[in-house]
Amino acid sequence: MNRLVVVSNRVPDPTAAAQAGGLAVALESLMQRRGGLWFGWNGKIAEPASSVGVTQANGIEFATLDLTPEEHERYYNGFSNAALWPVLHTLPDLLHTDRRNAEIYFATNARMADALVPLLRPNDLVWVHDYHLMPLPALLRARGVHAPIGFFLHVPFPAPDVFSILPDARRLLRDLLAADLIGFQTPNDRDNFAATAAKLLGAARMGEGSLVYGGNRVRLGVFPVEIEPRAFAALALENDAAPATERLRRSLAGQRLLLGADRLDPTKGLMQRLAAYRGLLALRPELRGAMTMLQIAAASRQDVATYRDLRAQLERQAGAINGEFGEADWSPLRVITRAVPRGVMAGYMRLARVGLVTPLRDGMNLVAKEFVAAQDPQDPGVLVLSRYAGAARQLNGALLVNPHDPEEMAQAISMALDMSQDERQDRWQTMWRAIEGTSALAWGRGFVAALINAHRARLEENVANDPVALLAAVAEPITAPASRH
Ligand code: F6P
Repeated sequence: MNRLVVVSNRVPDPTAAAQAGGLAVALESLMQRRGGLWFGWNGKIAEPASSVGVTQANGIEFATLDLTPEEHERYYNGFSNAALWPVLHTLPDLLHTDRRNAEIYFATNARMADALVPLLRPNDLVWVHDYHLMPLPALLRARGVHAPIGFFLHVPFPAPDVFSILPDARRLLRDLLAADLIGFQTPNDRDNFAATAAKLLGAARMGEGSLVYGGNRVRLGVFPVEIEPRAFAALALENDAAPATERLRRSLAGQRLLLGADRLDPTKGLMQRLAAYRGLLALRPELRGAMTMLQIAAASRQDVATYRDLRAQLERQAGAINGEFGEADWSPLRVITRAVPRGVMAGYMRLARVGLVTPLRDGMNLVAKEFVAAQDPQDPGVLVLSRYAGAARQLNGALLVNPHDPEEMAQAISMALDMSQDERQDRWQTMWRAIEGTSALAWGRGFVAALINAHRARLEENVANDPVALLAAVAEPITAPASRH
């Protein structure tokens, strides 16, 4: 079996109880089962940056490096999270452009490529993840890497006119097209990407699944990220009577729980969600004292101004709601701005009558799938889900809402609270059937299999077009070590 080399900006900390973000959750099973090398940032900032550190845990080799303060500020905070992130989520008003940030973004990718290449072995498969590393496929090719290179975008891809407002939009696309296979969460993301590559670069689409650019064919695929539904269901059941769940249950004293669980991020629609809850409290006074909303909003990217502002707004608004509707013995809203361990979260989800997953836009949103898996089939909670989350394609038993419209969301929450047990069971069954046969492991394996096929097909095509390439392809191992020195 070829060794799998996963490359992602964020590399999970194998010792941490709570991992923020879907990427780590999605890749965990595959890496634990298959082993391999996981390469990326170690989460530390240092000047000068130390050389690559290698550690081993659960059969996985982790090779990680520090970011310098400038890289952290400009590559991670600046370009990745204040330019690419909002644009890819179709929130162009939040775009912050800065030429120097873009330069450092490309330079940091080049430094990562330089550090990765010496670690590669013949016959490795390289799988690059997410928007932080869009230039990496081209940078690896330029360093003599002939290995199969796949890229998976965990976040959405916007329409061509939106993507084109990014500085260096064409360069980002060109660099990405050096991969053999580019994977997306939904057909909509794949089609937006193909339309953008056609419009900005003149790439030609060949059927649904590929693009031809610069004489090279790149495969495009749709691979919706999954969770391990049965394992998560078991975790929720196990935590049903855990001390943390019991404490929450006792504190509710029979009230119904509305639960939101997100990273504190402008894409998650948190302010609109609070507005919806406020609307519901005003619309249905009889619910006061009979329900509590718990919003877990794990603070993230607090060096980015938009994120800090959002946290301040959220805290202000939560205070205002509690001030306006609270009683001496009842607060309508509880907010926690820290990450909660997975098991505890699973227990809370099982306890909730309503799950609120209302991002303005989201690649997939694994919390929605986890909420479904966590439910008691006899007495399940209701999922209120944004129609702009990738998960909405699979979870049509949810109450699908427009996350920009607090009134519509308030109606949906109200309906969820009134829903009969029969209807809750029917809706839950529909959603469970959609996810029970899936797994994060199968998702990972599916992508890797498609990558091997894409690479093989590309070699054959090159061979057909170019006899010299044929000789090179068969004479060399798949990964040629870099000849940089
Ligand atoms: O899932 C999208 C994503 O941006 C991942 O790439 C990332 O690891 C996760 O969210 C959490 O964000 P961050 O790594 O910036 O804390």
